[in-house]
Amino acid sequence: MPTENTLSIIKPDATKRNLTGLINAKFEKAGLKIIAQKRLHLSKEMAEKFYEVHKERPFYNDLVDFMISGPVIVQVLRGENAVKLNRDVMGATNPVEADTGTIRKEFAESIEANSVHGSDSLENANLEISFFFAGIELSI
Ligand code: CMP
Repeated sequence: MPTENTLSIIKPDATKRNLTGLINAKFEKAGLKIIAQKRLHLSKEMAEKFYEVHKERPFYNDLVDFMISGPVIVQVLRGENAVKLNRDVMGATNPVEADTGTIRKEFAESIEANSVHGSDSLENANLEISFFFAGIELSI
């Protein structure tokens, strides 16, 4: 299986509740390595740009406001089939539909405040990683 990098964001609902360590433990237990990580408070412009693909969706403005409501942790996870593996570890977008043991089932508050974001394809992973990280930060 190919080794991949994927972009993960621990969202403001989770950083506010001090869940970073518990969420990172789930990634590591699943075999994902956190190869880069930083804590940021996104500007409105950054959040709008990051979620531009959802610009026409009814939840876009609320999503942007939520993502700038507190600090986030942006991180690069590496592992075999990391894009899919991370999505399995996160669980369904809506926590009501998420499987037992997933991050969103355990920690998410709602479909919006759903604790984590993860890239949905390898192509998007590369775009999203380069949005937040310089190549030199991924050199290990
Ligand atoms: P995320 O993986 O970060 O990608 C887009 C986000 O929009 C999603 O997680 C949810 O947190 C948020 N969102 C809010 N409402 C909806 C909705 N009705 N359908 C899908 N995503 C939603």
